[in-house]
Amino acid sequence: MIRPHMQHPQTDRQTMTTLARDRFLDDSLTGLNDSPKRLPCKYFYDRRGSQLFDQICETDEYYLTRTETTIMQRYAGEMGQCLGEGIRLVELGSGSSIKTRTLLDHLIDPVAYVPVDISREHLLASAEQISDEYPDIEILPVCADFTKPFTLPNPSAKPSHSAVYFPGSTIGNFQPQAAQKLLHSMAQMCGQQGGLLIGIDLQKDREILERAYNDDEGVTAAFNLNLLHRMRKELGATLDVEAFEHHAIYNQQQGRIEIYLRSQVEQTIHLDGQSVRLEEGELIHTEYSHKYTIDGFAQMAGEVGWTLRRSWTDANNYFAVLHLIVL
Ligand code: AVJ
Repeated sequence: MIRPHMQHPQTDRQTMTTLARDRFLDDSLTGLNDSPKRLPCKYFYDRRGSQLFDQICETDEYYLTRTETTIMQRYAGEMGQCLGEGIRLVELGSGSSIKTRTLLDHLIDPVAYVPVDISREHLLASAEQISDEYPDIEILPVCADFTKPFTLPNPSAKPSHSAVYFPGSTIGNFQPQAAQKLLHSMAQMCGQQGGLLIGIDLQKDREILERAYNDDEGVTAAFNLNLLHRMRKELGATLDVEAFEHHAIYNQQQGRIEIYLRSQVEQTIHLDGQSVRLEEGELIHTEYSHKYTIDGFAQMAGEVGWTLRRSWTDANNYFAVLHLIVL
């Protein structure tokens, strides 16, 4: 059974689209006027960007998705045991809920599955599918931006407790402060005995990391540059996309991949009546992808109420899935 929960049920599609465009414009102007210049990575994911991300996951170099899936397939049974009986499972940024199925298959009598995603169409389509495949679990989709507060829907049957599933190393996109804030809100949402099952990418050799973000086919480059195409198409920006190149490096000190768009020429971007000048070689920051140690992550999460219970990794120690609880 599905009962959708919308944050703005009265808002029609047209108004939603206009609001989304305004936010994109606003964030783009703010970022381009900042120094150093930046654009938020959440705008990577329009239809084309999501397709490109799926393609990234298929490249030889991008080990993350493949490795996490292997860990899930191998240890989902243990994870199900750890999460416990009769839970309400909340997934943040659920997308098409691919990895979720492996987990749902191994949960013990779960009461409800709450996928949370900003993209309404994606969310409802995959909720529909999951509902067909898991008729005994109540599916309660929430259309919301999970970085902002939202209300958790109550299942018809009372859950033993709630657990958040946050796969894909999405947490890595957030800088430590913002990551902690998000982890804190998850702890608040789950309450005592609440659980968190989270996928994180681990620190490793620079070569391996940099290759993962500079694939030979140039899919990651296209993914990054798609942001500029979106600005042209949706915001009417004038800029020379061809004059930008993808740039991704590992900052070992900070333990993060840093992704930029580099203007190879001096140029001026026109956006909403404003002009933004770029020097030759100037960088626009688009994304961070933080890499952790298990201990480092446990410490960061520990400061906002989480205690590490268990962790699972692959044979190479490239990626980890952690189970944490609120004591
Ligand atoms: C979806 C945030 C996990 O950081 O590896 C992939 C996004 N960016 N290639 C990541 C991404 C460039 C990805 N996450």
